[in-house]
Amino acid sequence: MENELKKLKEEAHKLLGKISDKGDAEEFRVRFLGRKGRFTQVMRSLGDVARENRPRLGQLANQVKKEIEEGFEKQISKLLQPSTSQMDRPDLSLPGRIPPRGALHPVTQIMNETCEIFESLGFSVAEGPDVEQDYYNFEALNIPPHHPARDMHDTFYISESTLLRTHTSPMQARVMEASEPPIRIIAPGKVYRNDSDITHTPMFHQVEGLLVDKGISFADLKGVLTIFIQKMFEKDLALRFRPSFFPFTEPSAEVDIACVMCGGAGCRVCKQTGWLEILGAGMVDPAVFAQVGYDPKEYSGFAFGLGIERIAMLKYGIDDIRLYYENDQRFLSQFI
Ligand code: FA5
Repeated sequence: MENELKKLKEEAHKLLGKISDKGDAEEFRVRFLGRKGRFTQVMRSLGDVARENRPRLGQLANQVKKEIEEGFEKQISKLLQPSTSQMDRPDLSLPGRIPPRGALHPVTQIMNETCEIFESLGFSVAEGPDVEQDYYNFEALNIPPHHPARDMHDTFYISESTLLRTHTSPMQARVMEASEPPIRIIAPGKVYRNDSDITHTPMFHQVEGLLVDKGISFADLKGVLTIFIQKMFEKDLALRFRPSFFPFTEPSAEVDIACVMCGGAGCRVCKQTGWLEILGAGMVDPAVFAQVGYDPKEYSGFAFGLGIERIAMLKYGIDDIRLYYENDQRFLSQFI
């Protein structure tokens, strides 16, 4: 009987591990622990055992039964718990994960908006190289070598005759050289200067405007720029034309708009003046017309160069231009 109990224990142990569903469990229970099961059969032979061995074998039989029952309970509770693979299974009722949404950079948005406004006024877009010849960046614009105006540009030179364009004005010369009046273009793009503080970055964007035809006056320039500011800021903002100097325009002006940060009271952004300069402009200088072969007696025109980051600062109330180029998602995600 001792051997029978040992065999029974081993057999039960083997089959316990194979229980994988309710059916297996019931089969096991009937086979080993049921009224007509294997254990009951072995217990029946206890009567045939010598009287002195009965207590020891009875005790052993109880112990084997207890072990089988405990093993069985354990296996059942394992079956009732969700398996790891079940837990890993996707929950189809959960909402999907939404990936972060990309968007156009705020400077690009303002650039696009600027182009759209001028296109709606009949201007078409012309594009030119960032790596520019000294000739177009300076000489064709009435800035010969050693002219003091070159100092204002903090130029990044690539070689003696090539540089990173310091403004979009070289496009004036390129467009006039390649076509005849009437001309009505804008030239958007990146420009570069060795300059950095809260209102200056070494790379920034400008949009050049050029209109050449018969009978164009300063009043046309003022009208076009006033319409642009009204459309861009969607309100009547104060505009100030300040006499200035550019070698390629005469007369020249710098145009300021009332500082939207302080409403004109004076703050660190507008350097306590109440105004923020956003563009340079003027009537095309006859010397520039002469370079491209236009007759200044027949044609006149105006040109302007807008600083896009400055407009973006004013439009969004940003007091440090460098924020636009730090690539901080917390900043950029506000413009989606
Ligand atoms: C010019 O660049 C002239 N080419 C503009 C012009 C065009 C005049 C056509 C006449 C006719 P200015 O250096 O002032 O001008 O720059 C024009 C604008 O660019 C400024 O009003 C300002 O808004 C912006 N700007 C200039 N430097 C920086 C800089 N480092 N960072 C950001 N914006 C700048």
